[in-house]
Amino acid sequence: MGKLKKGQRFSVRIDGLSHGAEGVGRINEKVVFVPQAIPGDTAQVQLVHVKDRFAHAVLEDIIDPSPDRIIPSCPHAQECGGCQLQHMSYDAQLQWKRQQVQDAVERIGHLKVPVLPTKGMDTPFGYRNKAQFPLGRDGGQVVMGFFRRGTHNIVDLTQCEVQHPLITRLALQVKETVERLGIEPYDEIAHTGVLRHAVIRVSFSENKLMLVLVTKTKEIPHLDSLIQELVETVPELVSVAQNINPKVTNVIFGPETHLLWGETHLMERIGRMVYAISPRSFFQVNSTQTKVLYDLVKEYADLQGHETVLDLYCGTGTIGLYLAQEAKQIIGVETIQDAVHDAERNAALNGIDNGRFIHGKAEEVVPKLVQDLGKIDCVILDPPRKGCEQVVLDTLAEAKVRQVVYVSCNPATLARDLAHLAAREYKVGSVQPVDLFPWTRHVECVVMMSLGNGLGC
Ligand SMILES: C[S@@+](CC[C@H](N)C(=O)[O-])C[C@H]1O[C@@H](n2cnc3c(N)ncnc32)[C@H](O)[C@@H]1O
Repeated sequence: MGKLKKGQRFSVRIDGLSHGAEGVGRINEKVVFVPQAIPGDTAQVQLVHVKDRFAHAVLEDIIDPSPDRIIPSCPHAQECGGCQLQHMSYDAQLQWKRQQVQDAVERIGHLKVPVLPTKGMDTPFGYRNKAQFPLGRDGGQVVMGFFRRGTHNIVDLTQCEVQHPLITRLALQVKETVERLGIEPYDEIAHTGVLRHAVIRVSFSENKLMLVLVTKTKEIPHLDSLIQELVETVPELVSVAQNINPKVTNVIFGPETHLLWGETHLMERIGRMVYAISPRSFFQVNSTQTKVLYDLVKEYADLQGHETVLDLYCGTGTIGLYLAQEAKQIIGVETIQDAVHDAERNAALNGIDNGRFIHGKAEEVVPKLVQDLGKIDCVILDPPRKGCEQVVLDTLAEAKVRQVVYVSCNPATLARDLAHLAAREYKVGSVQPVDLFPWTRHVECVVMMSLGNGLGC
């Protein structure tokens, strides 16, 4: 069999899906990654990169489709980098996500723990409460949407299956008004222009919108007309803020944010709780599934009313406050100062007086907290994708915290951290995947770990 070369065409049977949701097959024993292909497909592909151990190919034709293949309902599915699995049935996505988690737990964590079926959505559309749209020009026209898969070219948005419909409505209006008023979109190559991103948030419970204009410059030409027209045409818009990002960077937000018009916060309800969300603070993007997630955390923590609970990586205090009525005290730790202020505001908003929030890095604050508090009964971990710093886990183990509930958006770092705690005598319970991100490769998980006899907090 000859050596594989770029440009060659093959028929290949796809039998797996990579963690980036690319189809995986084999040609002459070499692993080939094929974006847009799914297990069960037989596809005609063309090789685009050939390396020593693997190759990349583009999908040219489906010769025999997988039983899980569906026709995407989104017209941008082929080109848009936002969703990776629009061509796979929702049931198959849920099964694949479970398998992804299982593989991570076994291969990275070397743990034998059950991974439960993924908790999916009844209606997995229109679920996102936040979108970040870059703006630019294409052929003289203002375009606004998502980056084309693997590039910084903007796919001009006309429709989006995963955003709340109000987000798309406001986005289309922003684009039209910006074009008409002649507000120049940012050009990332020349580093010229004004408007870099439109970040839009919606409250599902109140049907209200927040718009954050991320600009290169402090001045926004025709600002009053822009706001007036947006508010008149999209009456659900209640808050307009500006974030200034003058740097040459891929990072969306700059350091300065201020209100331009309307309300300072958007209010969202999860279960019995109301949360105030400011332009920059983290809030789970799927409000409906967040309730499923937080209810699981509550069930796993099984609080009786006498416990001291740490909510580490607490964002705007959402999880801790969700549990506060069942605990003696809740202490949140978070690095973003604005989020800490929001957490305090959220506590007051919900009449909760047994919660306090500390600004700082978990790895620096936790060792001091352990010394000050003496006994900590239960810890909620909800770190960013990179997982927990080892010192956090070690400190909790040394403090003999009996119950740890881990919420994770990255199965790989979750598996690593579970293994670390398992080596420190924690018993790892079953892993429950929750689908917060239908049609994408992402999955959230909740796991309970307990020290000793494994009773609740
Ligand atoms: C996945 S979010 C979880 C937020 C919150 N638990 C929720 O459900 O909305 C992770 C949070 O950790 C914060 N963070 C990142 N690194 C941190 C660190 N070293 N110490 C404390 N917080 C951190 C981020 O700012 C972000 O708010």
